[in-house]
Amino acid sequence: MKSFTIALSLAATAMASPCPYGQLAERGALPETEAKNFFVARAEGEAAVEQQMAAVKRAEHEAQAKYYKRQLDLGELPLGGGLLDGVLQSFSGALELLDVPTPQPFGLQEIPGDDKAHRYIKPKKSAVRGMCPTLNTMANHGYIDRSGITTFAEAANACQITLGFGYDTCVFLSALGLLAGGDLPTGKYSIGGADARVPNTLGPSLGISRHGFFEVDNSISRIDSYFGNQADFNLDRFNRLVSIADKYNGQFGNSAFAEERVLLYNEAKNNNPQFNAGVRWLAVTTAERVFIFRALPNGTDETNANYANVAPFYVNETFPRDWFRRSTPYSLANTGTDIATLLATSGELTVPGTNEGLNNFVPLGLDIGALSPQEATCFLAQAVFDETPGFLAPALADNIDLVNAFLNGALKPFFASFNCAIGDNTPFANETSTLAGPSVECNVLVNGVYQC
Ligand code: HEM
Ligand SMILES: *[C@@H]1O[C@H](CO)[C@@H](O)[C@H](O)[C@H]1NC(C)=O
Ligand SMILES: *[C@@H]1O[C@H](CO)[C@@H](O)[C@H](O)[C@H]1NC(C)=O
Ligand SMILES: *[C@@H]1O[C@H](CO)[C@@H](O)[C@H](O)[C@H]1NC(C)=O
Repeated sequence: MKSFTIALSLAATAMASPCPYGQLAERGALPETEAKNFFVARAEGEAAVEQQMAAVKRAEHEAQAKYYKRQLDLGELPLGGGLLDGVLQSFSGALELLDVPTPQPFGLQEIPGDDKAHRYIKPKKSAVRGMCPTLNTMANHGYIDRSGITTFAEAANACQITLGFGYDTCVFLSALGLLAGGDLPTGKYSIGGADARVPNTLGPSLGISRHGFFEVDNSISRIDSYFGNQADFNLDRFNRLVSIADKYNGQFGNSAFAEERVLLYNEAKNNNPQFNAGVRWLAVTTAERVFIFRALPNGTDETNANYANVAPFYVNETFPRDWFRRSTPYSLANTGTDIATLLATSGELTVPGTNEGLNNFVPLGLDIGALSPQEATCFLAQAVFDETPGFLAPALADNIDLVNAFLNGALKPFFASFNCAIGDNTPFANETSTLAGPSVECNVLVNGVYQC
């Protein structure tokens, strides 16, 4: 009887996308009685659940249509964009070449499986790689261009396809990448540093590893840019994380990162005279940590963020063998919830601020003591909207109307239901760095060691 109850509740909760448990049952991967129970439960539960899901979706689309109309009335979409029926609308005018990402199907699926087009191929000498282990992995498997020069739409689609992250989360991340160092009108960006293959329509495209917008201090496996190349994988740093995870049953989970992030914060505060722990630092350093245990586990065992599943992305920039992506989309709301938990369980309050020289930490005056999940989600929005003018590359800072048309058309609708106080465009600080970001110095990584 017990397994019947489990099957019933699983069948009922997993209808948002194809049910992972059901897919196991259909593949004959479950014990016979368990499979039988599942099919019975599904037949009884499916119709009602489906109806309910359809109603939720209808309500969501109605809210989107209302918000879209409001954006039109307010003149927030001068160049198109906006969200209707769960899909971003295309852009026009100065952004007409900018392709928008599209929602991809979700559900448990082996990645890359035996798909020949997506085998691991070691990057060519001319390919760029950077500091995001999953973008590097997507490029090594041809889910984004193997050269490492990608686009807003391509990377956001690959993020859904390979990791099963939600449309909202993937669009958010790729938009941030584009603004960090890409060419807004064409949507092109390098997943590493500045590169001649990315156009400079508005001015120099500096690469997403440009320090200060998306690339920040306290990365998990990369050193602070003050100390050297912020794109290169650093094995010592990764190994230190591995030994912290060992204290928590080998889990790269919330507990391990709650410890690790405080350690890195204090280390940088004490040693990096230019330690910059601003608003985007907080958003990025917390998000990238929760992403690890939400994206990298085997989809068949979603809460098991162990070495076998996490390490291949890091040390070989490839998917683990026989690996399944997660079965349900991971949304911005999920991200906010996980960030709130990470902050609440960290042993010390990592006060945002900047070092103006050693032993001279200047706090931003931002209270992060007890962020609710909703506040944490809004915090992601604020990290982009309210911080954007002050930290953009000059090419974009000089074209702020274009940037705002993009943000309003591509990102704002995803935050509509959270009622975030965004859009007053008051940066906490100004730091229009003109420094180009670096790519990794050698792009073939095997067992955590570059092969050049
Ligand atoms: C699709 C667009 C994406 C872009 C443009 C992007 C970009 C970046 C950038 C700029 C960083 C450096 C942040 C820092 O300085 O600490 C980074 C790091 C990271 N990203 Fe991504 N990312 C994307 C998607 C994802 C996804 C879907 C995941 C899910 C696992 C992910 C996981 C990570 C992790 C774990 C790090 C930390 C790397 C480390 O220091 O060890 N990224 N990403
Ligand atoms: C990385 O790749 C090497 C060479 O193929 C392999 O021996 C090693 O086990 C891999 N490491 C991980 C963590 O998968
Ligand atoms: C993922 O799960 C499948 C199905 O249970 C299993 O065969 C495979 O070995 C797992 N892969 C990893 C890397 O854990
Ligand atoms: C940053 O620059 C913008 C635009 O020049 C200005 O409005 C804002 O007050 C500045 N903020 C700070 C904190 O200096």
